[in-house]
Amino acid sequence: MNVMIAMSRPQSADTISSILAGSMEIHTAFAQNDLQKQLTAKGDKLDYLVVDEELYQNTYPWFWISNLLQATSPNTKLIVIISEQTDSLYKEIIKRLALDLKFSIIPSLLTLDELAKEIRARVLNKPVVKEKADKGKVISFMSSAPKDGATTIAISAAYTIAAKTNKKIILVDLNLKSPEIRDHLGLKMDKGYSVIQADCDSGSLDSNMLLRACDQDKSFGNLYILTGIQRREWAEKFTLEEIESLIKVARETFDLVLIDIHTFPDQAATVKVAKEADERYVVVQPIVTSYQSSWHDWFTNVWHHHGFSEKDFQLILNRDSKEAMSTFSIERSMGTKIVANVPNVGNGMGIKAINEGLPLVMTDHEEVTPFKQSIEEFCLGLASRLDIELDGSTQLRGKWYKRILKRG
Ligand SMILES: Nc1ncnc2c1ncn2[C@@H]1O[C@H](COP(=O)(O)OP(=O)(O)OP(=O)(O)O)[C@@H](O)[C@H]1O
Ligand SMILES: [Mg+2]
Repeated sequence: MNVMIAMSRPQSADTISSILAGSMEIHTAFAQNDLQKQLTAKGDKLDYLVVDEELYQNTYPWFWISNLLQATSPNTKLIVIISEQTDSLYKEIIKRLALDLKFSIIPSLLTLDELAKEIRARVLNKPVVKEKADKGKVISFMSSAPKDGATTIAISAAYTIAAKTNKKIILVDLNLKSPEIRDHLGLKMDKGYSVIQADCDSGSLDSNMLLRACDQDKSFGNLYILTGIQRREWAEKFTLEEIESLIKVARETFDLVLIDIHTFPDQAATVKVAKEADERYVVVQPIVTSYQSSWHDWFTNVWHHHGFSEKDFQLILNRDSKEAMSTFSIERSMGTKIVANVPNVGNGMGIKAINEGLPLVMTDHEEVTPFKQSIEEFCLGLASRLDIELDGSTQLRGKWYKRILKRG
């Protein structure tokens, strides 16, 4: 099998070639001229031509794609790797061209290892076998539009489950643009992701390092909290590889990994977490700006291009007022199911909870009871799907009560 890999980054092409070597004969090109020269010499002998779109950054896709097809034999199969820099309109155009000109596409935001496996699967015509993580499950929480309540729900779920099981749980703040778990829980700045960022980046992170970077609430020996970064402007600088190594070690160390991610899938952290997650929750409010505009725009223009369907997400309807939008209309608009209805807690108690660093779910106030009940119901369903046995609610109340006494 004769395969040409054309990428603008020689290091990436070399890594991929070395992963693929053995099963096929690999040629590489790192610039447009170089590729053109090689195609003139041996374009008609290639079985596959794999081209990273980044190589043609300033050229309209219909020009370079038709040139490449002309420079190869009709039997050569063209595979285009979509660049993460490409805007959604061009992604749409390339998809359309792929149908018309009969080439295939590999979506952006894959690690080099994933990319190599994807290329091998296409060339050898065998599906990618995803290694099944048999340890901790990963659950992601994001808001459909900012401030819909993802952090509130993620924290509530973490505390509720932690109080009802001895399983080891970590709550991770990878909402890099609004890392607010620290504020919600009134935690200090000396721990968190920044402590282990270099180790995630180099792939040297281990369980002990991760545990040391976590905060812990003394009332819950099994609940660990990894707070986020303070440099919010670094959100886009995070790499797929560093998120992958954090998730891998978190899975090995914990039974349940709950991750809070940002609404905007315009960065590796959000997309990578969603890809890795065993279940993905979108917290949505019954407001048109949330269940309609924000979701549609981000889903159609970004999530969809990363290979997600609406059904890959499940909805948590937050601040469900019962009289605003019906469940059915929201489900129809978002193309997927609501699995939990969480009521609004009135009297500004949500804001008060954050200002006091004591999450809503841990306040022992009558007004919060329906909120707690709905979270508990959601957690029972989640835990049973994950084969985690939860105790009854008496123990939960006891633990919370003790904690409140402690704080008081
Ligand atoms: N069910 C609820 N009842 C009352 N207040 C709530 C409820 N859910 C969330 N809130 C409040 O709404 C505000 C936003 O919630 P939260 O910070 O969880 O949103 P978010 O989606 O995580 O925001 P971001 O987009 O910044 O990540 C907070 O003040 C929180 O206390
Ligand atoms: Mg948040």
